[in-house]
Amino acid sequence: MKVLTIANLKGGVGKTITTINTSYILTTDCGKRVLLVDNDQQGNCSQFFGVYGYDKPSMTDVMKRRVTAEEVILHTEYEGLDIIPANLSLAEAEKAVLMDSVTPQQVRLREVLRQVKDDYDYVLIDNAPSLGMCVINSLATSDYLIIPAKVDKFTFDGIDCLLDQMNTVKEYFNPQLQVLGTLITSYRRNDTNQQGAEWLKQAEKYKAFDTFIRWTDKVDESTFTAEPIMVHSPRCGAAKDYKAFVAELLKMVEG
Ligand SMILES: Nc1ncnc2c1ncn2[C@@H]1O[C@H](COP(=O)(O)OP(=O)(O)O)[C@@H](O)[C@H]1O
Ligand SMILES: [Mg+2]
Repeated sequence: MKVLTIANLKGGVGKTITTINTSYILTTDCGKRVLLVDNDQQGNCSQFFGVYGYDKPSMTDVMKRRVTAEEVILHTEYEGLDIIPANLSLAEAEKAVLMDSVTPQQVRLREVLRQVKDDYDYVLIDNAPSLGMCVINSLATSDYLIIPAKVDKFTFDGIDCLLDQMNTVKEYFNPQLQVLGTLITSYRRNDTNQQGAEWLKQAEKYKAFDTFIRWTDKVDESTFTAEPIMVHSPRCGAAKDYKAFVAELLKMVEG
C-alpha cells in the first residue's frame, strides 16, 4: 500500500480535483484498489462522492481515536474506490487533538490506515490549505507528497513553507517520506504560465512533473455534475492530462 499526501498551503490550486480524478483513474483504468481520505473539514471530496454528512463516522472520529478503519470507511459508487469522509466538525477535532497531550497527536491517521494496509494499493489523502495537525497526520503516514500548484507567486511561496514542514515531519515521525513532485494545474498557454512553469521546472527541489494539467471550464462543470472529468468530458485537455499524470505517477512509484 502506497500512501500519497496531496497538499499545498494555498487554497484553490486543484488539490481536491487532483485527488478525485487521480483516485478515479487509478481505480477504473488501472484496476487499483484505492482509498481516498478526505482530510479537509470542507468535505469537498465527501460532497463529490455523495457521502457528506454528520450521521456516520468521519475523519473527526479518526483524529479523536474512537473508530476502527472498518467503521469509518465507506464505499463510493465506483467499484474499488472507497472513502473516509470529513465534515466541518474536523476543525473542532483538530483543536481537541492539540489539547490531548497524553496520546501521540501526529500518528492518529497512521494507526487507522495500518489496519487496512493489505486492502488497498493506494491511499490518496486530500488536505486543507493549512499546516495544522490534520496535515501533519497526513504527512506522518505518507510515502509521498504531491503538491498541486497554480502558477503564481503566492503559490510558489507556499511550497517552500510546505517543504520545510515536510522535512520536520520526516525527521521526527516518518523517515521514508519524500516529495514525489509538484503538479502544475489550471495551466494556460500565456507568458506568465509559460515562464512560471519554466522556472518551477529548473528548480530541482520542486521536482515538477512533466505533465501539466491544462485549464478547462469543463472542470468547474464536473464539480456540479459530481462526475470525474474523464466521465464528464473524456476528450477535454484536463481529462487527457490527468491520465498522463497517472501514467507518470505509476512509473515513478512502481517503476
Ligand atoms: N484544470 C482545471 N481547469 C479549470 N478549473 C480547475 C482546474 N482544476 C481545478 N479547477 C477549479 O479550481 C477551483 C479549485 O479547485 P480545487 O481542486 O477545489 O482546489 P483546492 O482543493 O486546492 O482548494 C475549483 O473551482 C475547480 O473546479
Ligand atoms: Mg480542496
